[in-house]
Amino acid sequence: MPEVFVVRSLDEIRFWSRIMKEHSLFLKLGFRCEDTQLINEANYYYKLFEGIEQRAHAFTVNTDAQTIRQFNVEVSTAASYIWAFKRKLLGLILTCQLPGANNFPLLVDHTSREANYFRNRLIELNEGKLEPVQDAIIDENVFFLRIMADHAKFISHLLDPSERKLVQQANDFSHDFDQLLFQARDLDSMRPQSQTGPILTQFLDQNRVSVKSLRDFKKAAKDLIDACKIKSIIHPLLADHVFREAERFLAIIDMFEATLTGKPAVFAEQHH
Ligand SMILES: [Fe+2]
Ligand SMILES: [Fe+2]
Repeated sequence: MPEVFVVRSLDEIRFWSRIMKEHSLFLKLGFRCEDTQLINEANYYYKLFEGIEQRAHAFTVNTDAQTIRQFNVEVSTAASYIWAFKRKLLGLILTCQLPGANNFPLLVDHTSREANYFRNRLIELNEGKLEPVQDAIIDENVFFLRIMADHAKFISHLLDPSERKLVQQANDFSHDFDQLLFQARDLDSMRPQSQTGPILTQFLDQNRVSVKSLRDFKKAAKDLIDACKIKSIIHPLLADHVFREAERFLAIIDMFEATLTGKPAVFAEQHH
């Protein structure tokens, strides 16, 4: 029987190391030609997480727990370093030291939040102290709803302004997810009284409906970009990246729902 700890660790690392690798690419594309030092740093992180991703795929669910525990320590340190790099960049942008570069501050902050989330997941797994599910439901939703709201804003701002219909749709998603995020924060402040089965189930159901429709919108945008049918400065890989993050959120919602209702979740094939 493979250990749950090994399965969960490899799943987190396979998913998030690819995400970190892609962040390095997106950040690099936003630098100016003369920012060679920053470009080199981005290339360094690309290689670092590419190596981690390959090793995570080489391990199997039968790898011994001690090896994976050590790997988790190493990867969480790498996640801390890329987090620090992203925060340094945010500082440079906000003090106007990179005029004309093309990384939005919110995008840099967003990618740093994802690095921090990744690092925390690995530390939690290694310490073996998982939050009670009622707390995890609220915390994960607060985290991911904000991520989804940010994605909608990035899509809106990276589409060509002449794509009026798509920009409007992206803005509608941004508004929808901002509202869901406020609702989630309200549930958060009403803890622990808000953590009843019926309230949490309704919370998950409502969020799932919106995440599914945003996921479908991202898929449609990705297909249009791949076919070169729309005008934008969205990298095709960025469209796929935000699609995968929505799929991840949906899988987490389904896992929570299954835990609450006691029914086994039907896991869709995870995209890494
Ligand atoms: Fe990301
Ligand atoms: Fe993201």
